[in-house]
Amino acid sequence: MRLKNKTAIITGASSGIGRAIAVRFMEEGANVVAVDISTAVVEGGAPVIEVLSAIGPNAIFIQGDVARSEDVSHVFAEAQARFGRLDIVVNNAAIHVPKPLAETEETEWDRVMDVNLKGAFLCSRAAVRIMLQQEIVADKLHLPAIRVDRAPADGIGHVIDRDDVQPTGGLIDVIGLERQAARRNFVDDL
Ligand SMILES: NC(=O)c1ccc[n+]([C@@H]2O[C@H](COP(=O)([O-])OP(=O)(O)OC[C@H]3O[C@@H](n4cnc5c(N)ncnc54)[C@H](O)[C@@H]3O)[C@@H](O)[C@H]2O)c1
Repeated sequence: MRLKNKTAIITGASSGIGRAIAVRFMEEGANVVAVDISTAVVEGGAPVIEVLSAIGPNAIFIQGDVARSEDVSHVFAEAQARFGRLDIVVNNAAIHVPKPLAETEETEWDRVMDVNLKGAFLCSRAAVRIMLQQEIVADKLHLPAIRVDRAPADGIGHVIDRDDVQPTGGLIDVIGLERQAARRNFVDDL
């Protein structure tokens, strides 16, 4: 039970990796806030809240779009109201456009940016704002931005292409969010 009394918000938790993380966190004793724009399960199966509730009582599902600041505000306010604190955020929600670059519409590119980048920004900001009010510093995991080793210590906005061909969900690294979040939480070892 490594996560007993920890509260975790996991975005994109209805399906795939986010769903698996939510299940594992429940098994480790966490309070889990599963967030997703949809209740549909991409790979099939019961809605995530049913699966989580079968493991324990400390799970809620909140439907919301991580690209919408009002949805994100609602999610974090609900999480605090239900569990009283926040320890972990998994910025997992992401989309991709499975098309060659030449066939990709501008609106599709914009949506990828909104979900994968702006969503990570909105959730990270909301998390840090709560965590700064808490006694104990939290852990934070952000799946689309794994290159924390190369993130600048100050400033947000340096975006790099990882694959340089298609605007896929895994294409963009959000450079700066991790280090800033860590620094703001007085953790110096990232
Ligand atoms: N699957 C892989 O091989 C792989 C590899 C590297 C990184 N990743 C990353 O892991 C994460 C999850 O990937 P996956 O394969 O499990 O994806 P998936 O498509 O199976 O699941 C993504 C979930 O995010 C939700 N979602 C989409 N847009 C949303 C929004 N605006 N607001 C809230 N929820 C939203 C979807 O409804 C879905 O439930 C992504 O960040 C992805 O970039 C995946």
